[in-house]
Amino acid sequence: MTWQLRRASVADLHHIMDIERSVFVTDAWSEEMMRSELESDHTVYVVATALGAPDIVQGYAGLMVPAGATEADVQTIAVAPQVRRMGLGRVLMHALIKAARAAGVRDLFLEVRADNAGAQALYDSLGFAGIGVRPGYYQPDDVDAIVMKLELSRPSTAVGAS
Ligand SMILES: CC(C)(COP(=O)(O)OP(=O)(O)OC[C@H]1O[C@@H](n2cnc3c(N)ncnc32)[C@H](O)[C@@H]1OP(=O)(O)O)[C@@H](O)C(=O)NCCC(=O)NCCS
Repeated sequence: MTWQLRRASVADLHHIMDIERSVFVTDAWSEEMMRSELESDHTVYVVATALGAPDIVQGYAGLMVPAGATEADVQTIAVAPQVRRMGLGRVLMHALIKAARAAGVRDLFLEVRADNAGAQALYDSLGFAGIGVRPGYYQPDDVDAIVMKLELSRPSTAVGAS
């Protein structure tokens, strides 16, 4: 399947919130919080739409990357349930990693629920490594967060190595 990716704007807020509420049932962000993320000068949010249907958002992802920072955080990522396991999550993560590299980031961090094996598998496959645990980070479910880090200074693939 083919998607088009573009920088998200506040015009995408309602589509993003539709996915957010259906995916993060117990810990969805509020519309106000998502709006401030989209409006922030320190974030990069991308949305993916189906080819030929630019208004139908099928996934989104966001990065917190203050100007000049060498560290950045993956804030969120979600793919609509009906288009999962088709590669969109990976495409969105690659877009964030590219944006982080372009901003001069060296270390990219994220937190993932300890019970979210699917997302952990995606991050593992991209080279993220677990570096710690935040007990009970996700409330009200009382689920631990696993903190993961990707070192961008290390090329993910060896090019021209001999
Ligand atoms: C996590 C999420 C973004 C992945 O999106 P996706 O488009 O389905 O992911 P992809 O199709 O790009 O998957 C890439 C790889 O990640 C791994 N993966 C993704 N979902 C998986 C699952 N449910 N179980 C096991 N591995 C999974 C696989 O290695 C997969 O490669 P494969 O399909 O060739 O085996 C999506 O499941 C989602 O939106 N989940 C709900 C929100 C969420 O958990 N966000 C993360 C918060 S930290």
